[in-house]
Amino acid sequence: MSRVGVLVSGRGSNLQALIDARDRDELGATLVVVVANHAEIPALDRARAAGIPSVVCERDAFPSRTAQHQAIGAALDAHGVEIVVLAGFDRILHPEVVRRYQGRILNVHPSLLPAFAGGLQAQADALDYGVKIAGCSVHFVTDEVDAGPIVLQAAVPVTDDDTVETLSARILAEEHRLLPEAVRLLAAGRLTVSGRRVRIDP
Ligand code: GRF
Repeated sequence: MSRVGVLVSGRGSNLQALIDARDRDELGATLVVVVANHAEIPALDRARAAGIPSVVCERDAFPSRTAQHQAIGAALDAHGVEIVVLAGFDRILHPEVVRRYQGRILNVHPSLLPAFAGGLQAQADALDYGVKIAGCSVHFVTDEVDAGPIVLQAAVPVTDDDTVETLSARILAEEHRLLPEAVRLLAAGRLTVSGRRVRIDP
């Protein structure tokens, strides 16, 4: 089974969705390490409760961002990680790490990409823009932020009385469905990337 490392920064509900899929034997992969760039976040409690080793690489503990991200890469390597999942990771991963895991690194983003890429407030941006359909995307991570080939997307309606909170919750439920599914497909070797297009093999 593929060895998966998950990068987190906060709440960790997408990490939890991966753990729950694993516990239902639906992930087809092993969660071998959780790497956080902040200490004392709920995601680390979730990792602990699920019996997954965790590593904290806080920016303050390193002389530079590069050194911090090299430590993140080293933690992934040390656990023999084959697939990396950015699950609510709030920083742009250093290109060195991205390149090392090219084709084996996924991110979940709370918008229908390429709309509302790049920001940390995609749900608020969608609401402000006035779109009637919002959603989420799971995509391969490349050097360009939120611009890698799209693996899966799900759409949700935006209602007239939506707030950032209600819309975010509706999108998040779809993230929790899509992310484990994308990991399952990648781990099973069922994703073929050709240019920007990702084919899901039967
Ligand atoms: C999610 O909405 C994810 O798409 C975005 O940050 C949020 C993380 O939530 N990148 P959680 O930490 O997984 O609960």
